[in-house]
Amino acid sequence: MKEAALEEIRRLAGLYEHRRSALLPALFVAQQEAGYLSPAALESVAEALELPVTEVTSVASFYGLFYLEPVGRHVVHVCTNLSCMLNGCQRVLSRLQEVMGIRPGETTPDGRFSLRTAECLAACEEAPAVLVDEDRWAAVSPEDLETMLDRYR
Ligand code: FES
Repeated sequence: MKEAALEEIRRLAGLYEHRRSALLPALFVAQQEAGYLSPAALESVAEALELPVTEVTSVASFYGLFYLEPVGRHVVHVCTNLSCMLNGCQRVLSRLQEVMGIRPGETTPDGRFSLRTAECLAACEEAPAVLVDEDRWAAVSPEDLETMLDRYR
């Protein structure tokens, strides 16, 4: 991990009474470096926060927005929880699979997109919801998807 990222993690740790409290933001800093959290990145975070690497890995593997393997340049999450299920997320997911030619958990051969399913994206009132990188798309219909994806090159 680059020194600038480690410095940022140490700075974050200094903001809290307990270094452990900086773990989630530290993992985001580490993930921004390579787009995912390699074993080496997890070890660097653990060392910087003086935490066991098993704890850091456990936390990183719990949250769907941390990637423990390489992903595409853009990651598309389709919410499949209750509100989205009742409002047609399966049609959205099926259409995305058709358009991208991949299934959830996979990355397109050109490395442009990874497709994942997600639990709640906190847009239940506008279901079905899709998250592309940090952009949340609400009330998505299968017909919108190609236009939506065209924004991500
Ligand atoms: S259930 Fe899909 S956003 Fe909440």
